[in-house]
Amino acid sequence: MKNRIDYRTSLGAGIVVLAALAFAYAWSGFYNIGADAPHSPLTYRFLTIVREQSVRRHAKDITIPNLEDPSLVLKGAGQYAAMCTGCHLAPGMQDSELRAGLYPKPPNLSHEPVDPRAAFWIIKHGIKMSAMPAWGATHDDMTIWSMVAFLQKLPAMTPVQYKDIVAKAPPDDDMDMSGMRAGTTEKSH
Ligand code: HEC
Repeated sequence: MKNRIDYRTSLGAGIVVLAALAFAYAWSGFYNIGADAPHSPLTYRFLTIVREQSVRRHAKDITIPNLEDPSLVLKGAGQYAAMCTGCHLAPGMQDSELRAGLYPKPPNLSHEPVDPRAAFWIIKHGIKMSAMPAWGATHDDMTIWSMVAFLQKLPAMTPVQYKDIVAKAPPDDDMDMSGMRAGTTEKSH
């Protein structure tokens, strides 16, 4: 009985010491937070598991609407062209000045297909400690689904097809232009 208590006490003490060391390391500032200093393979693997498992759990019960609806795909084309290409590129784009310095690097969505549920959840909620914003703050669910619908088609598009669909797409009326105008007005006062 006494041995068991000793064992627990030393385990507890060990955990406290480890936590204190981790905190001391954080406090020391030795950790390089720069986006141009990649994670160690172990940290990278760990963070990938955190992201993938979190998205899997949070997205699993989402109901997918009809993503084949051509008007939804068309709307998504306009949204994507207006808000996403700087980070996720488009057919015919090699890289962008913004994307080159990002870490984690945004996937090239003109090449990589996305799972609809995961894509919806990520577009709506964003991803912490990455550059991926939560577009749900400014866009309703159906607008987010339009982007998901478009992303199902994007990897098969040629640069010409891409330009064509974006030209036909309805203007991005969810982009908060009124807010931008208000901002300009405020400045000129
Ligand atoms: C400022 C850069 C930036 C912008 C703008 C941006 N994203 Fe992202 N996005 C990211 C980054 C970075 C990741 C990867 C995050 C990670 O791996 O932790 C990501 C991930 C994603 C993913 C998950 C892809 C996958 O295969 O896991 C989707 C889908 C996505 N973004 C869609 C969009 C859409 C749609 C838009 C436009 C409405 C958009 N993003 C705008 C940076 C951006």
